[in-house]
Amino acid sequence: MTRRFLFVLGSARPDGNSELLARRAAEQLPPDVEQRWIDLTARPLPEFEDLRHDGDHVRPTEGDTALLLDATLAATDLVIVSPLYWYTVSAQTKRYLDHWSGWLRTPGLDFKATMKGRTLWGVTALAHEEPEVADPLVGTLNNSAAYLGMRFGGVLLGNGSKPGDVLRDTQALARAKTFFAQDAPLARFPYEAG
Ligand SMILES: Cc1cc2nc3c(=O)[nH]c(=O)nc-3n(C[C@H](O)[C@H](O)[C@H](O)COP(=O)(O)O)c2cc1C
Repeated sequence: MTRRFLFVLGSARPDGNSELLARRAAEQLPPDVEQRWIDLTARPLPEFEDLRHDGDHVRPTEGDTALLLDATLAATDLVIVSPLYWYTVSAQTKRYLDHWSGWLRTPGLDFKATMKGRTLWGVTALAHEEPEVADPLVGTLNNSAAYLGMRFGGVLLGNGSKPGDVLRDTQALARAKTFFAQDAPLARFPYEAG
């Protein structure tokens, strides 16, 4: 099956470090792999409303929510491109993930069954030198993938504060070259590992 990568950009500024790093990694994808890039700041999702137990979720048919939903359902590989904000994903990214909870309950979507076996990846820029401070973000993505029965390819981390800084992180650029070629095992919750 031809792979279709969806890059979901979660920075609060354009052309930031996370996107630059993701574009470096994406350059390595074979030409027959489809790439779609959606910027959550340019396409803002509405505030998530929790209707899970009211049974009122209907499939969005227009606007940015429908665009994001359709693009998500069509992707074999979903790449969360989020800067590290307060040690986790950005608010834009978190809102996108919150909408998954609505999509999981939307009749006729089969969101969980559709996402099962697909691959979640992360690309993140952070200002902190020590990458382990991004563990909460990595855990969020890993556990979300595990919840949906997805594969998880890990998170490509790069260092930088102002836009362009990440292009000086030679180790991150080297990791970007092979990032999407890595094996992406089925995601497991930490208590299942071992
Ligand atoms: C709201 C906000 C929160 C941030 N929180 C962190 C943080 O917790 N740890 C960190 O290392 N850097 C933090 N930073 C710095 C950004 O991660 C860093 O500038 C990164 O390069 C931004 O990525 P971008 O250029 O893709 O937007 C924060 C920046 C902002 C604006």
